[in-house]
Amino acid sequence: MASLLMRRPDLVDLPPAPAGVESASADDIPRLASLLTAAFDEAWDVDRVRRDLIDDPSVRRTLIIRDGDVVVATASARVLPSDYPGAGYVHWVASDPTRRGQGLGFSVTLAVLHDFIAEGLLAAVLETDDQRLSAIRVYLGLGFVPQYRDESHQLRWSKIFTALVEERLRSRRDTCRTRDRTGAEQQHRR
Ligand SMILES: CC(C)(COP(=O)(O)OP(=O)(O)OC[C@H]1O[C@@H](n2cnc3c(N)ncnc32)[C@H](O)[C@@H]1OP(=O)(O)O)[C@@H](O)C(=O)NCCC(=O)NCCS
Repeated sequence: MASLLMRRPDLVDLPPAPAGVESASADDIPRLASLLTAAFDEAWDVDRVRRDLIDDPSVRRTLIIRDGDVVVATASARVLPSDYPGAGYVHWVASDPTRRGQGLGFSVTLAVLHDFIAEGLLAAVLETDDQRLSAIRVYLGLGFVPQYRDESHQLRWSKIFTALVEERLRSRRDTCRTRDRTGAEQQHRR
């Protein structure tokens, strides 16, 4: 099944560039391999990080966020001018599975968009998969919209938006239940 395509049609009105994001160096390759293995649940070793990121001429920069000695998030700025003229391609976005929901994925992706601006690019694209709802939430929050590669993509996006709303409703219900339970316990104690 072909990957889903998303596009940010321009790079204006972005939130300010986040602090604490830096370019990965050769020393970070083993740390990137650990992070990408944990985030994608697939094998990334140092050779793959070199081949697919650091030594790939289409990858302009691999950005990272550190916490001490640990790399806790990454995303890469890639350009594929024959496929996406004038646009940057957001590549291999990942955050540490133990640090999800802390804004790391959002910040590192935003930093890649600012990198595209610095490179004089005017738009951004990325590819993703139907089940990557957390990533799609981040991308929608950053102004990316779906691009339908063919008729089937419309149906796939329809299912994704339904799943996103269901997830939001489920989490709201869980919050209400927790609040009700805490309230009942407090009343019981009085
Ligand atoms: C996708 C992934 C990187 C997201 O990482 P994360 O660190 O959990 O994401 P964040 O905490 O930055 O974002 C979570 C939420 O906060 C929002 N958010 C975070 N910071 C924000 C900010 N400053 N302003 C507005 N929104 C913000 C995001 O839009 C998102 O929305 P939600 O509240 O509806 O969930 C992570 O789930 C991952 O590594 N997944 C596995 C690998 C993967 O699928 N990669 C993508 C391949 S396409």
